[in-house]
Amino acid sequence: MKNIVILISGGGSNMAAIVKAAESERWAARLDARVAAVISNKPDAGGLAIAREHGIATAVVSHRDFASREEFDAALAREIDAHAPTLVVLAGFMRILTPGFVTHYAGRLLNIHPSLLPAFPGLDTHRRAIEAGCRIAGVTVHEVTVELDHGPILAQAAVPVLQGDTPQTLAARVLAQEHRVYPRAVADWLQRVETN
Ligand code: GAR
Repeated sequence: MKNIVILISGGGSNMAAIVKAAESERWAARLDARVAAVISNKPDAGGLAIAREHGIATAVVSHRDFASREEFDAALAREIDAHAPTLVVLAGFMRILTPGFVTHYAGRLLNIHPSLLPAFPGLDTHRRAIEAGCRIAGVTVHEVTVELDHGPILAQAAVPVLQGDTPQTLAARVLAQEHRVYPRAVADWLQRVETN
């Protein structure tokens, strides 16, 4: 069985989209894959309750409990590795990861970023896209490499930037595409790998 571990920091709507796709598309039977755990760095992340409602194991590894990024990442990796992951999925996980962590999961760590990378890595993507006068914005799913918001692109979707858009209205339009693109990219990735 291919275990997917999803990392979140907030509402977890992308995580929920992946969990729902796994259920409705019967990933266990078709891809020999399941969402084994959802882990948050924030105890109050709304997505934790959603995961529990779907019978998925949850855990919190709070970055506030650790003195350094290295110590936090080591504790996070221990929690992830307890679930023997084939794939680790960052879904709105808002922590910069250390090179050691990224290297540990090289080739099996995916991220979703709310811009058309390589445009607008980092934070505040929707405001920056509007201020730059972009006519198109979007979302990117990519493999995580040591450089933030870089790494091989697996999937993208574009949306128009409309007259009068605010960062919030644009974010909502992009998020709808995120929920479509991320489950698809994860399923495609799982289909490509050999079973553990
Ligand atoms: C999503 O828009 C995701 O692309 C973004 O955070 C949001 C999380 O929403 N991720 C990043 O900005 C990563 N740098 P969700 O918790 O509802 O999935």
